[in-house]
Amino acid sequence: MAEKFHRATFTRNFLRTITRIKNPDTMLAEASGEGLAKTLGVWDLIILGVGAIIGSGIFAVVGIAAAGNVDGSALGAGPALMISMIIAAIACIFSALCYSEFATMIPVAGGAYTYTFATLGEFAAWMVGWVLMLEYAIGFIAVACAWSNHFVQFMSGFANILPAWLANPPVWLVNDPFTASKLVEADPSITVPTLFGIPLCINLPAIVIVLLITAILVKGTKDSTKMAGLMVFIKLAVIALFVLVGAFYVRPENWTPFAPNGAEGIFAGAFLIFFAYIGFDALATAAEECKNPQKDLPIGIIGSLLVTTVVYVLVALVLTGMQDTASAVSPDFLKAPMAYCMTVVKQNWAAGLISIGSLAGLTSVLLVLEMAATRILFAMSRDHFISTKFQKIHPKFQTPALLTWTVGLLAVLGILTLNLDVAAELCNYGTFTSFIIVCVAVLILRKTDPDRPRPFKVPFSPVVPSLGIICCGGLMIYKSMQPSGSAVLFPIWLGIGALIYLLYGFVRNRLNENKIHREKVAQRKQELCK
Ligand code: ALA
Repeated sequence: MAEKFHRATFTRNFLRTITRIKNPDTMLAEASGEGLAKTLGVWDLIILGVGAIIGSGIFAVVGIAAAGNVDGSALGAGPALMISMIIAAIACIFSALCYSEFATMIPVAGGAYTYTFATLGEFAAWMVGWVLMLEYAIGFIAVACAWSNHFVQFMSGFANILPAWLANPPVWLVNDPFTASKLVEADPSITVPTLFGIPLCINLPAIVIVLLITAILVKGTKDSTKMAGLMVFIKLAVIALFVLVGAFYVRPENWTPFAPNGAEGIFAGAFLIFFAYIGFDALATAAEECKNPQKDLPIGIIGSLLVTTVVYVLVALVLTGMQDTASAVSPDFLKAPMAYCMTVVKQNWAAGLISIGSLAGLTSVLLVLEMAATRILFAMSRDHFISTKFQKIHPKFQTPALLTWTVGLLAVLGILTLNLDVAAELCNYGTFTSFIIVCVAVLILRKTDPDRPRPFKVPFSPVVPSLGIICCGGLMIYKSMQPSGSAVLFPIWLGIGALIYLLYGFVRNRLNENKIHREKVAQRKQELCK
């Protein structure tokens, strides 16, 4: 907590209390005590980074970013998708540089949450932690649902050998209630069991994968990295396969017109494909587990971002060369564009392998997202915002087991109640906000604590952090101007967060300060009596 221990009041000095910052030295001292095991080297970090980034974005969202949505709700960039990708990557790189400065300066668990506590104070830190739950926990739920969709699609490829219920499972067993209701509306022949008119649906594959990932994470970060490494290898191999095989079927005439929807299509594509870059910031949340964070973290964060940008641009080049994205496309192209293109050119073997790669890609994203969510909550528990019981480290596996299982079980609850599209959009909002806050925090700490050693410094500050704020803020405003459920839910989420802070986090923190105060007074009395 704060450095000066005093009896807390709940009303006096309210503003001063909620804006009180936590000194980075206190954070470092706490982390050097009963911290997490330091097992991650530079390659582990790049693997974790690429593992976190490449997932449903490039295996699914890329289709809509290129060709637009069938209902016209999103414009496609066409072959200019590669420009959209570069724009999204540039927005991320500004924030990545700011993350690197912080991660090397304060290498403790918690990422943007920790940096905010060091610069903007207690309330802002709580709100950032709350918003980061949108990015990681809600993102985790969204990707688990996407994993389920890919899994169902993959199983349908084995219709000849698998029992019908497995190759083509009932709608209520593989969907959330909202999606199932939409499907029933579109096709009344679909039946879903109901209780008092409420559809009883359970997305079983999503729940199973969430529980599996949770168990792996409880077993250990190093094991999770090894597993992520295997997944990263598989997904990069199938992407390379797509690029190499697909290159033979590229028809250059598909690259014209280059930008069928002009600048608007390019920016709409950049907004959508931004989702494909989410994840690199998760590395900063694992700073406390790095062997040499000062040197390795910037390489890990920026390296993984550069690797994925190159991979994405190559995919965009081949994909838009194989498929005419200026005209109407098949719905299958929008769901799984790479596999679809391979089927069109009669390379079904490659389509099958790409489906396996998509599942591997999504699995590694799941691993990193859940790990990041638990590491932020771990830091919040250390600051007494949530129960300190969550700081308990498993004696054998050296991981926050109770916290990880809690996140896993809450995610299962989310899967039972959340709509995938809204979850994914909320995840984007959470990410934009955290990126902006980190850029702002870099500028503040440069002013308030200029002498603190910075093993990595953002070049050309304040220009680079300001550009990060402008790029992310611009994309966020662009999205907010379009009518969507998430644009309404985001402020509601913020309001709930502020309420929980006032009624719970603030009170817990003050009670803890009073406890420390009482202990200090008792200790002083004992010393005087001696
Ligand atoms: N970047 C991650 C993905 O594309 C969230 O799945």
